[in-house]
Amino acid sequence: MSQPQAIIFDLDGVLTDTSEYHYQAWKHLADDEGITLTHEENDEHLRGVGRRESLMYIIRGHQYSENQIQEMMERKNRYYHALIERMTPKEVVPGGVALLEEIKSAGIKVAIASASKNCRLVLDRLQLTSYFDGIADGNCVVNGKPAPDIFVYAAGLVNVFTPNCIGVEDADAGIQAIKAAGMKAVAIGPASRFHGPDKVLPNMENKHLKDLLVE
Ligand code: BG6
Ligand code: MG
Repeated sequence: MSQPQAIIFDLDGVLTDTSEYHYQAWKHLADDEGITLTHEENDEHLRGVGRRESLMYIIRGHQYSENQIQEMMERKNRYYHALIERMTPKEVVPGGVALLEEIKSAGIKVAIASASKNCRLVLDRLQLTSYFDGIADGNCVVNGKPAPDIFVYAAGLVNVFTPNCIGVEDADAGIQAIKAAGMKAVAIGPASRFHGPDKVLPNMENKHLKDLLVE
């Protein structure tokens, strides 16, 4: 692929550091319940993973009713909201806005593929919503990452065949989803976190369209 027709970004941990807020909210809940949760576990088991699957990891080996599970998911979401309510456009990652502008002016479609049901709220807080030609969030598909569905859905929103898309992710579950969708995968973060991306970048700072391109 010389030039892609669409670039599809994950949100949390790629365009802004909300993965840290998700961790803090889960940690608050785990502390309430007397369960240990470390940053390392978050990186390995929760990064990029949906709300219910994340809770299932945290409470593994403990007995909870479905009502209690629902209540805990709502409680975590309240803790998360308290953190994102204060977000401003300053919390877009360094280099993020310049990169989105460069991609758009090259005539390439830009979309979001996020597992989060809070995706649109975060994009609004960051004043990024208008950059995207399509937004696929946690309300759009049933099967979460590593299933390819959310990336395929996002490609459909911008009407681009998946082999002509590049996906950008900070979570290994997301890299697996991108590959399963038949797209090229660019990973953001330490190389040790990922299995089989086409390219790894430490972050988006000073990155240009050419840095995202994959042969
Ligand atoms: C992903 C985050 O984008 O969305 C995960 O990386 C999070 O940490 C998931 O669990 C679901 O988010 P939400 O906002 O719907 O609970
Ligand atoms: Mg992410």
